Amino acid sequence: MNILETKFAGLTLKNPIIMSSCGRTAKAANNKAIEDAGAGAIVLKSLFEENITRETEHLNQSTDHSESADYMHGYIRSHAMSEYLQLIKDTKRLCSIPVIASINCHSAGEWAQFARMAEDAGADALELNIMSIATSKDYVNGSFEQMHLDIVRSIRNMVKFPLIVKLGQNISNPVWLVDQLKSVGANAVVLFNRPYQPDVDIDNMQFTVGQVFSSENGLAEPLRWTAIVSAAVHGMDIAISGGVHDGAGVVKALLAGASAVEVSSAIYKNGNEWFRHTLNELEQWQEKHQYKAIAEYKGKMNASGTENPDFWLRTQFLKYFATRE
Ligand SMILES: Cc1cc2nc3c(=O)[nH]c(=O)nc-3n(C[C@H](O)[C@H](O)[C@H](O)COP(=O)(O)O)c2cc1C
Repeated sequence: MNILETKFAGLTLKNPIIMSSCGRTAKAANNKAIEDAGAGAIVLKSLFEENITRETEHLNQSTDHSESADYMHGYIRSHAMSEYLQLIKDTKRLCSIPVIASINCHSAGEWAQFARMAEDAGADALELNIMSIATSKDYVNGSFEQMHLDIVRSIRNMVKFPLIVKLGQNISNPVWLVDQLKSVGANAVVLFNRPYQPDVDIDNMQFTVGQVFSSENGLAEPLRWTAIVSAAVHGMDIAISGGVHDGAGVVKALLAGASAVEVSSAIYKNGNEWFRHTLNELEQWQEKHQYKAIAEYKGKMNASGTENPDFWLRTQFLKYFATRE
């Protein structure tokens, strides 16, 4: 029996390490190399609503002929979508591990139709990358969370395959939202997506990009929320994304209640060899602690029980500073 097998969003994975959506998963040949390196599943690079909208907005500005703009609008959309469907088909042809399509969307609209096409193209599941920030002064309280529910509800009506929702960290109460997502038909959540990091070059007064890749420090918040959500909402799988850089990070995620981890930065930094090395670390830890299956220890340190909730709910450093003046 494979001691690293896990279930995530209704899929059986040979191990819990998923290659998360990023530039590395935008080509079928790369995805085959990722499978050969040991990944348990692959999330394809997201198809971005923003990119399609921007390209078509640019067209609308640069032409007076609304009819031709409409035509090009449709063309760009269908071209981007058909390229993406081809990526799904090519990756499925080369890989035997689960292949998860990913779309970045801020509204349901025609994405529901596209989700159906992704399912028909052979994707094993769909990850909805909904992360964005709410900034309007006219904001209606709760509408950001409602947008997540509307998107899932409309896509669920069109497809049967598993739906995974990748959340940003800017949700005021992830427990409530995950519970609601479950009720509208999502099968799993990813905690959390990593936002683009804006920075400023103070010598040249220019906008720059901050750290693209995470470090181990990024694991603390996904770990906290996985521990809290997994204790409160049952029947909803969780994958941790953010700050998993070694076997210990994977073990922590599983102990907190995750079923899997989705990793990008560690692969960018270390190459595909990282999978084998990290899987060995995970296996050695299980053997040392005499666990024969992930299910035996998954969630063992989450926020259920009597003592654990206090630990995971702590937000202030009061005690720490009281002893370190
Ligand atoms: C270069 C780069 C590109 C990414 N592109 C996407 C993307 O297209 N869609 C998405 O959902 N997440 C994307 N992500 C986020 C990752 O999938 C992942 O959730 C995040 O980086 C946190 O995991 P990590 O700490 O292992 O990097 C990207 C991350 C990086 C570093």
